[in-house]
Amino acid sequence: MRHLIDILDLSVEEIAELMDVASDIIENPGSYSEACRGKKLATLFFEPSTRTRLSFEAAMYELGGHVIGFSEAQSSSASKGESVADTAKVISCYADIIAMRHPKEGAPLVAAMNASIPVINAGDGGHNHPTQTLADLFTIRREKGRLDHLTVGLCGDLKFGRTVHSLITALSRYEGLRFVLISPEELKLPSYVKKEVLKARDIPYVQTTDLEGSLPELDILYMTRVQRERFFNEEDYLRLKDSYILTKDRLRDAREDLSILHPLPRVNEISVAIDDDPRACYFKQVLYGKYMRMALILKLLKEAGRL
Ligand code: NCD
Repeated sequence: MRHLIDILDLSVEEIAELMDVASDIIENPGSYSEACRGKKLATLFFEPSTRTRLSFEAAMYELGGHVIGFSEAQSSSASKGESVADTAKVISCYADIIAMRHPKEGAPLVAAMNASIPVINAGDGGHNHPTQTLADLFTIRREKGRLDHLTVGLCGDLKFGRTVHSLITALSRYEGLRFVLISPEELKLPSYVKKEVLKARDIPYVQTTDLEGSLPELDILYMTRVQRERFFNEEDYLRLKDSYILTKDRLRDAREDLSILHPLPRVNEISVAIDDDPRACYFKQVLYGKYMRMALILKLLKEAGRL
């Protein structure tokens, strides 16, 4: 059974195919509107989400399928003490595919080991978020026409930001990538990502606290919010939350063809005045995420013999 738990579960070729399908869906939505007729997606969200859950739901509806599920742990049997393994076995009897978000790292993997239907990791704690990465990659390809030979700046909470970890891992497989890691000292990229991904593949990167000074060399700027829910104490969060605020003024020295991405939700990291700037891609990114999820659902259901 194929699942998507880590972005490396998909080869570079498979990711390219998913992007081709997503592009085809954009051009010919009518040919996909009944593709998942009668199929059910279960969205098991043990942690709050707006975009990701609704994106999965919209994706399944646009494929002509159905959606069942819950959006908070309190409304599931987890509140009675049910294990993730048991939940996965039970839901396998009701649905054709699962999208799971969980505050504990590794929970979707446990679900995948126990489910008899495909499981998609929709975010596990501060670890991974592979479908956000599919949205990010597709956005970069549509904006830049390529995924190689890019200088990518990632700014904000690089420690707890799971989208950052998945994106760096995914991009590390393309040629000529360079990373500029911009964060406060306390929120630097975890050393396991540096060791297992960047150093292991000999990928050039710099770590800095300086956003403005880094901007002129970037092709992509990936802004992130400080992940309040992963902090042990509120004081640290309050001290760090506004470390970086991108304003029109600060963008002065950035390139004309810079693409600004953000997985959203935005708190204060990007001034709303930038939303109209042609370099702002974060709302397009949301739309691309839905198309990539459609392509992914189709792929996994086909491979599971359910389509
Ligand atoms: C991200 C997440 O949940 O990790 N949101 C999302 O899915 N688009 C980013 C975040 O919450 O900051």
